[in-house]
Amino acid sequence: MSVALKKEAVVCENLRIATDIYSMWIKEPEMASTAKPGQFISMYCSDGSRLLPRPISICEINKKQGALRLVYRIAGKGTEEFSMLQASDRITVMGPLGNGFTLEGKKALLIGGGIGIPPMLELAKQLSCEKQIVLGYRDVTFLDKEFETYGSVYISTEDGSKGTKGNVLDAIRTNGLHADIIYACGPTPMLKGIKGYAAEQGIKAQLSLEERMACGIGACLGCVCKSKEVDHHSNVNNKRICKDGPVFYAEEVEL
Ligand SMILES: Cc1cc2nc3c(=O)[nH]c(=O)nc-3n(C[C@H](O)[C@H](O)[C@H](O)COP(=O)(O)OP(=O)(O)OC[C@H]3O[C@@H](n4cnc5c(N)ncnc54)[C@H](O)[C@@H]3O)c2cc1C
Ligand code: FES
Repeated sequence: MSVALKKEAVVCENLRIATDIYSMWIKEPEMASTAKPGQFISMYCSDGSRLLPRPISICEINKKQGALRLVYRIAGKGTEEFSMLQASDRITVMGPLGNGFTLEGKKALLIGGGIGIPPMLELAKQLSCEKQIVLGYRDVTFLDKEFETYGSVYISTEDGSKGTKGNVLDAIRTNGLHADIIYACGPTPMLKGIKGYAAEQGIKAQLSLEERMACGIGACLGCVCKSKEVDHHSNVNNKRICKDGPVFYAEEVEL
């Protein structure tokens, strides 16, 4: 696992790419040099009343330029502050954090739901096997065109405005998709559904969990989830999503 750094990064660009969704590139060569798909960074607010850093997944890594891309949705005050940053502004970040995805399999199903879609982009770039990419949205789509470079893309929308009407599993079943490995990131109900589907089909699955985080580095136990095995740190059936995850094999965690 790479060592997490706390640094001041320079914002290269910060663009609105859909309603309330922003794409930010930051320059931080040391972090970019070790970052892996599925890892995240903690972003600090400049407003001192918002002490806790905000965890945001790494969407793309450009080692050559020493830059990382973050794609985020305005959810509250912190992400609203990030959306106002402009090129050449500075932001304190810590990372890369968490374990990231393990690259494996011959035919992969990459599944992203909502704001769980961004980390799947760097994964799609780095996986060299055959890829089917399933993206689930409520209504407005984003990043879908960028995924087309890396595999066949299938979309589901809750309102049926694009692709299959329903959720990602509806899109998988409607399009008769099969794979020997599943990679997924998204809201817990979606991951729960995917865990059940993977077990039913006998497919190995790596799931990236999102949980509210405080420290982001494994110190506060604020982000635990139930695990099958006893954790050496807490001595109970817990795993810290920030430190032991956010990516787990489906059978390791209870959702
Ligand atoms: C591993 C991980 C990766 C993530 N990746 C992305 C991403 O790529 N893009 C994106 O838009 N969002 C992502 N999120 C969710 C993002 O962290 C929250 O939307 C963000 O922290 C909200 O901050 P806020 O100040 O705008 O909202 P507020 O609700 O005002 O936040 C208050 C506090 O709650 C925490 N918090 C609130 N919602 C969440 C949440 N869903 N997950 C974790 N902490 C939360 C904040 O960090 C902050 O400490 C990720 C979360 C995790 C755990
Ligand atoms: S957020 Fe503190 S242990 Fe995970």
